[in-house]
Amino acid sequence: MNVAIVTGASSGIGTAFAQRIDHRGDVDEIWLIARRKNRLEDLAASLIVPAYAISLDLTSQTDIDTFDALLKRKKPTVRYLVNAAGLGCIGSIDTLSNQSQSMMVDLNCRASIELTTLVRPYLSRGSRILEIVSCAAFTPLPYFGVYAATKAFMLSYTRSLRWELHGTGIRITAVCPAWVKTEFIEKAQSTDSSAIRHFPFAQRPDVIARRALSANTCHFAVACCSLTSFLLRIVGKFLPHCITMAGWEGIRRL
Ligand SMILES: NC(=O)c1ccc[n+]([C@@H]2O[C@H](COP(=O)([O-])OP(=O)(O)OC[C@H]3O[C@@H](n4cnc5c(N)ncnc54)[C@H](OP(=O)(O)O)[C@@H]3O)[C@@H](O)[C@H]2O)c1
Repeated sequence: MNVAIVTGASSGIGTAFAQRIDHRGDVDEIWLIARRKNRLEDLAASLIVPAYAISLDLTSQTDIDTFDALLKRKKPTVRYLVNAAGLGCIGSIDTLSNQSQSMMVDLNCRASIELTTLVRPYLSRGSRILEIVSCAAFTPLPYFGVYAATKAFMLSYTRSLRWELHGTGIRITAVCPAWVKTEFIEKAQSTDSSAIRHFPFAQRPDVIARRALSANTCHFAVACCSLTSFLLRIVGKFLPHCITMAGWEGIRRL
């Protein structure tokens, strides 16, 4: 049984990936993971491929164990793993709670790594992993610092995993979009609405899903998905962080 597993499927980029994979029609089932079950059920009902709503809080070890047990019971052939569940909280060390900061690390890093590791035995030649990272991985971002650090961590992890998987026929890509029009921005601002006020050149999530899958087909290690993100990648690679952070500070204060 060929399966696609999409986390963060109740909203934004995860929903777009589930719809895109449904459109491709090359799996028997799509497993939709997030906490809001009603949203997942609505999405599952709208898809052509049989899809299942699996309500899990990926920051909970009990729920990760539940997912592990599901894999062991069903023994699927996983054709797609899309780790799109993620969270960003805007703010400084003085305004962000320990809980908000830990939640970003738990969801963006720990959960993605645990899921990727649990799914690994069920991947084979032709399987695809898409880790949804961010262009925030390319440079430190004051007032979005923990978020950017989690994404830098995931970019490093995805790149090294790609080397480890070399020769297995499993394609893995770090998807690094700039701003995307999803619930993410509103949630990010809920911790501090003044530190970052503008989100220019925001893209539609379906564009990200389409471009990311194409980049993965081409074996790209990183999918920028936009000119903005591509330029940030170049700037982050060649300029010292003090300069990129000064540039960010200027944009942030607009
Ligand atoms: N939007 C942007 O500007 C942007 C830019 C670059 C990268 N990204 C990255 O793209 C990914 C997807 O973000 P998005 O824009 O689609 O945001 P979104 O619309 O807010 O979606 C986030 C998804 O994560 C799920 N989620 C949150 N906490 C969870 C938890 N504890 N357990 C399980 N699922 C959880 C949410 O579902 P429930 O609330 O139902 O659990 C939701 O489906 C994130 O990793 C984000 O960092 C976003």
